[in-house]
Amino acid sequence: MPNLAVFASGNGSNFQTIADHTLNGRIPGDVVLLVTDKPGAYAVERAEGMNIPVLALAPKSFESKQAYEQAILNELHAKDIDFVILAGYMRLIGPTLLSAYSGRILNIHPSLLPSFPGLHAIEQAFEKGVKVTGVTVHYVDEGMDTGPILAQQAVEIDELDTLETLEEKIHAVEHQLYPAVIAKLLNQKLEGARHNDC
Ligand code: GRF
Repeated sequence: MPNLAVFASGNGSNFQTIADHTLNGRIPGDVVLLVTDKPGAYAVERAEGMNIPVLALAPKSFESKQAYEQAILNELHAKDIDFVILAGYMRLIGPTLLSAYSGRILNIHPSLLPSFPGLHAIEQAFEKGVKVTGVTVHYVDEGMDTGPILAQQAVEIDELDTLETLEEKIHAVEHQLYPAVIAKLLNQKLEGARHNDC
């Protein structure tokens, strides 16, 4: 089974959902590490509740981003991590992690990219008055929410929606779409590996 590391900086609801899907067998992989840049994040409590090891490193305690990412990379290698799943990790991934995990880092973003990249995407879509927004799962490259898109799902904003109800709708879609995309990707990789074995 592929080993997954989930990176999260906050609440960790996507982390929890993904971990749940590995435990009930709907994602053919194991979440073996939570990486966070915010040691006080609620995601850490969720991981502890699920007995998933946590790597909590404060970037400020390193002399450079390169050194910070190298420390993470050492742990990814120690745990034989195959894929990195970003789930509300509020930092750009730098060259150290990108080159080591090229094509193996995924992210979820709460808008239909390329609309509303970066922070506060749900608020921006709501305030702009768009009628349709959504969720994007994409590969990570050096840009901010710019990598190749794997899947998108639309969410309509209707007249009765408030920012809060829109956030709920977006998160509900995230919790379905992200595990489904991860499961599909891992199944494809496992299938490919089986063919190569023949
Ligand atoms: C999600 O909306 C995700 O799309 C964005 O950050 C949020 C993380 O939420 N990248 P949670 O921490 O998984 O609850």
